[in-house]
Amino acid sequence: MNATIALLPGDGIGREVTAAASSALMAVADQFGHAFDLQAYDVGGAALDAGQVPLPAETLKGCLAADAIFLGAVGNPKFDGEPPARRPEAAILQLRRELGAYANLRPAYVWPGLEDSGSLKPEVVKGVDVLVVRELTGGLYYGQPRGVAEDGQSAFNTMRYSVEEIERIAAVAFESARLRGKRVTSVDKANVLETSRLWRQVVTDVGERYPDIDLGHEYVDACALLIASKPRRYDVILTENLFGDILSDESGAIVGSLGLLPSASIGGKVGLFEPVHGSAPDIAGHDKANPIGAIGSVAMLLRHALKLDAEATAVEQAIGEALTAGYRTVDLMPIPGKSPVGSKSMATAIIERIRAAA
Ligand code: IPM
Ligand code: MG
Repeated sequence: MNATIALLPGDGIGREVTAAASSALMAVADQFGHAFDLQAYDVGGAALDAGQVPLPAETLKGCLAADAIFLGAVGNPKFDGEPPARRPEAAILQLRRELGAYANLRPAYVWPGLEDSGSLKPEVVKGVDVLVVRELTGGLYYGQPRGVAEDGQSAFNTMRYSVEEIERIAAVAFESARLRGKRVTSVDKANVLETSRLWRQVVTDVGERYPDIDLGHEYVDACALLIASKPRRYDVILTENLFGDILSDESGAIVGSLGLLPSASIGGKVGLFEPVHGSAPDIAGHDKANPIGAIGSVAMLLRHALKLDAEATAVEQAIGEALTAGYRTVDLMPIPGKSPVGSKSMATAIIERIRAAA
């Protein structure tokens, strides 16, 4: 297959993990006989530093012309004082919206051998396998009106959801559950928010079309507690934009490290794939970043955007094999007697195993 993939390294460790992701893509191309044309573009703080806007027109054009987009991370504390439109994060928010990528899939599972990597007891996390389905182009992130009052003494954002927006993301969650554990937990704050009451109503209605799926509803505060105390009770968590942002980071802590989590943003013109972690300026350039979230995002890209299932599985198996062989970046609990490895060594260990795939 011939495919064009837009690479947006962005900022901080985004650059390091994008290098790992592109090596993984090239290994898949060689091993399985595909031709991937990788085209890199500026985005986020890197674009601002080059005197451009966070999402330059050329970057957006390249993304729209590609078969899939891989993004490393955006964010740099040096832009903290800037207005929202001049911050690196504006790039990703605008890109998601321009693409119409409303469905964000964030799987979190415990890799065998990593049960003791996080702060929870191994017997609590063993076997955890959750998929957070996060609505990505609505809610507080985009609702109008938003702004700061003229006197600077107050500020406001608007949480807004339409029936149509809820219906389409709910359908993604139910369809995903059909391929997994057949359970959907819809997370809202229906005891307080009108948007959540509408959310619960619409999700319930859509659920009637999926009698084979067991649907439950939870308030977001209860879910935040239960996911940390009984994480195995979840299969698919369906939730709105901000709640999904928060709960997906929490699921990173549960499975051992945020650096492990991949994501896919689909449903729009072109699929967008990125690790869940941010630009981590504190460790950028120190060869410490865990490339697994990025390489796992490559697997999601292969599966969702290019429909290359066997290739996606080979990448995931290579990650599992590198972990089984004892490779651990510093964010993961080291194996007794073994030193942690750098970002590049971890990526190389995985890529060698992709190249050895049958
Ligand atoms: C994420 C990030 C983004 C978000 C930021 C960088 C805008 O935290 O993808 O989870 O809030 O969606
Ligand atoms: Mg986040």
